[in-house]
Amino acid sequence: MVNLVTLLVLWFSVICTIYNVKLMVHGSARSESTRFYDFKVQTKRVAKLCNSKDIVTVNGMFPGPVVYAQEDDRIIVKVTNETPFNVTIHWHGIRQRRSCWYDGPSYITQCPIQAGQSFTYNFTVENQKGTFFWHAHVSWLRGTVHGAMVVYPKNMVPLPFKIPYQEQIIILGEYWLQDLQQIEHSTLVSGGAPPKADAYTINSHPGPNYNCSINDVYQLNVIQGKTYLLRLINAGLNTENFFAIANHNVTIVEADGEYTKPFATDMVMLGPGQTLNVLVSADQPVGKYSMVVAPYKSGRIVKYQNVSAIAYFNYIGAASDSSYLPAKLPKLDDKLAVKRFMDGLRSLNLANVFKEIDKNIFITIGLNVQKCHSKTPKQNCQAMNNGVLTASMNNISFVHPSISILEAYYKKINGSYTEDFPDAPSKFYDFVNGAPNNIPYDTESLNGTRTKVLEYGTKVQLILQNTGTVNIENHPIHIHGYSFYVVGYGTGNYDPLAAQFNLVDPPYMNTIGVPVGGWAAVRFVADNPGVWYMHCHIDIHQSWGLGMVFIVKNGKGDLESLPHPPPDLPPC
Ligand code: C2O
Repeated sequence: MVNLVTLLVLWFSVICTIYNVKLMVHGSARSESTRFYDFKVQTKRVAKLCNSKDIVTVNGMFPGPVVYAQEDDRIIVKVTNETPFNVTIHWHGIRQRRSCWYDGPSYITQCPIQAGQSFTYNFTVENQKGTFFWHAHVSWLRGTVHGAMVVYPKNMVPLPFKIPYQEQIIILGEYWLQDLQQIEHSTLVSGGAPPKADAYTINSHPGPNYNCSINDVYQLNVIQGKTYLLRLINAGLNTENFFAIANHNVTIVEADGEYTKPFATDMVMLGPGQTLNVLVSADQPVGKYSMVVAPYKSGRIVKYQNVSAIAYFNYIGAASDSSYLPAKLPKLDDKLAVKRFMDGLRSLNLANVFKEIDKNIFITIGLNVQKCHSKTPKQNCQAMNNGVLTASMNNISFVHPSISILEAYYKKINGSYTEDFPDAPSKFYDFVNGAPNNIPYDTESLNGTRTKVLEYGTKVQLILQNTGTVNIENHPIHIHGYSFYVVGYGTGNYDPLAAQFNLVDPPYMNTIGVPVGGWAAVRFVADNPGVWYMHCHIDIHQSWGLGMVFIVKNGKGDLESLPHPPPDLPPC
């Protein structure tokens, strides 16, 4: 029987969504309930930057609908694919405890939902609250198929900061004039680098710096003297971004859906896949201020879109025709500014990080150049030295199988993956400076669908080491199924004797920007059975193979085991 309170709450949240009401209330008195959503994946014509094109959306919305829930709720989303393309949806940051089947990465936990088919995702947000997002996890569809997920604390559970007057979702994105699936395809065929985005966007608006965009601007109207909570989400494909508001500091209170100690800063950096909650007080003279999104140019040979996206942080009462105050940003390759920002991220409460490690895994991350094997090298081998660009972990480029690894693992189907992902690279050298990035050195990687099998409950430490093979660059590494403590990071090669670790209050994140030419150390307990993808959240790097898969075995009994697959799991 459907309970009346649930219905009322659902009705209330639907009304709130429809009327775009942003309230800091947490529903009425009730315990865990179920939230139903209907996602129709559809193409839609949009006009931007003096052009129009068809994009893939959910329910014709760009960004897509917001999924609202409360801690421990169940979320049920029926996804129907009304496009001719393959689709899956991933719930980024939701740990999917014992619900790996609904995690969403294509060919890892499920086969894609094919044209005309549907699949119902069904999971709980167990012990999680904060800002998350959902996105397509197949080809480059994430560029337009994405939306926010907002999970409120349980009733009567206070926020660890003063209740803001209002809250607003701010989604950073990238926009291309060309079709995204075509760009991915033509880039991979070319062997070279992808074109840069045509614009950055804020809630899908590029702002006044681009052609035909004077009125395509997102504006947040604020009242002088009030404090606002901004839920920042980087849903962009290939660029890490700085974000700042002119003349206003922001105070970070949450990162990747976990509370942090309040940290005031004049700018933040978010890689694709990262979320931040920040408070901003409208404490300046009435006026129109810019909110700016610019690239963090960590990769020296990468081509970035140089024009920033602008939105308005507009005080009610400001003259409507007033020009806006520009925001200041650090130099766009300022890795020290990024370090200062990262140093400010501390978990709110003491973290109980384990000190005994069961499994230490050292993983190099970087790009590679393969030798050209094409008969038409001019078309297919456009990387440096007439080669083909790829990317790898421990020098193995991840190749997606043609059936889902989770299904193959569960049904014991042989042949689509191996279990030999190595605990360390095959050789140690000066990864950052001595990387063999020129002919006649060999910069090739191996190809494989290699997984690392972990016993249930293993205490894991990963050292993620960026290599200078081809190019050093900051990589936002994301792990599915887990959050991890970021216990350390630094520049250069990881040195266990010199590395400083924070086991007291490290941030608990799901995506870590591994410093350019540096390393990061993360820890987690492998207590969520299933098949979990770990990859760079820069889509071109993912397409090039910058990923691997953890298989976490069942523990004892039902509570430590993966349930059966859902009956409507899409076939390949
Ligand atoms: Cu946000 Cu594997 O994804």
